[in-house]
Amino acid sequence: MTSQTLRVAVVGSGYMGKGIAQTLARAGATITLIDRDAEVARAALDAMIGDAVAAEAAGLADPGSAEVVRRNSSSADLESGLAGAEFVVEAVFEELSVKHAVLAAIEANVSESTVIGTNTSAIPVGVLATALRHPERFFGVHWFNPAPYLPGIEIILGEASDPALLDDVTALLVRAGKKPVVVADTPGFIANRLQFALFKEAASMVEDGTATPQQIDEVVKSGFGFRLPFFGPFAIADMAGLDVYASSYATLSAGLGSRFDCPPSLAERIAKGDLGTKTGGGYLGMSKEESAEMASRRDRSYVALARLRAELESEA
Ligand SMILES: NC(=O)c1ccc[n+]([C@@H]2O[C@H](COP(=O)([O-])OP(=O)(O)OC[C@H]3O[C@@H](n4cnc5c(N)ncnc54)[C@H](O)[C@@H]3O)[C@@H](O)[C@H]2O)c1
Repeated sequence: MTSQTLRVAVVGSGYMGKGIAQTLARAGATITLIDRDAEVARAALDAMIGDAVAAEAAGLADPGSAEVVRRNSSSADLESGLAGAEFVVEAVFEELSVKHAVLAAIEANVSESTVIGTNTSAIPVGVLATALRHPERFFGVHWFNPAPYLPGIEIILGEASDPALLDDVTALLVRAGKKPVVVADTPGFIANRLQFALFKEAASMVEDGTATPQQIDEVVKSGFGFRLPFFGPFAIADMAGLDVYASSYATLSAGLGSRFDCPPSLAERIAKGDLGTKTGGGYLGMSKEESAEMASRRDRSYVALARLRAELESEA
């Protein structure tokens, strides 16, 4: 197989399956959308084609991409739907028993060289792999919603996964404009562990009357979240000053409890005199010159983002 011609079956034609199928179809893969319910699979194929036509018309996808998406098919029959598949995407309900049953059924209907990827949001790949006889060809390939438009993909290798088997799939993802990142096989991986921690704290503030959902969403979008398209938590902490972070943790911990205790790695850096970009170093280990370049890029990025937001809001 080559990533140019990869034959892909997507099992579970719901919200994510449909978006993943559209994205891989646009990148040239041949897709069969499969669901336990034939009507759901057919409707997903129609919706995927409709979405691709609308995306092309709106300039969100390359000219000609909708025509490519039209060439695909749907099925409710696992055996015929999986025939010839070189890569299978499992995107059924996030329930262990359902995923185990579906993965075992997939394996029973594909060749030994077929790569199987699960789009699980949080269940470790090692836990899902117990349903398979050949866990070496099984991986986590975790997409973000909406799949056609978010570039990030978490690739999760279970203990038994053979990374070499993933080469053609990774090439296809890159051709689809995605940025795959290999992450550890732990519950929620990186993205959902962080996202769900943020949501839990936000929900607590609503539950105890500290803030409304509207207030929180606005503060996140226009405050610290405004930085996130450009910088992750470590770049942000390094720029803010690790000593500033430690002082804030002391206040938060005293007022809100031990879940806000200063992280040990932060305290250790401060004890060594490493305060982030102001001293050089920090979690990202940047020199003062690199830090200055980042600060200049930061300001240009925020002004550009503010203009883009204003433009999009004026169109709404
Ligand atoms: N919704 C999100 O934002 C999101 C983001 C990333 C990952 N995920 C993950 O993607 C997976 C799918 O989520 P979703 O939001 O698309 O769910 P969904 O409910 O929209 O779709 C699931 C589909 O699976 C089908 N299905 C269930 N059992 C089946 C079986 N035995 N055989 C064939 N098809 C079967 C259902 O009919 C349904 O169409 C989950 O693991 C979820 O955690 C979801």
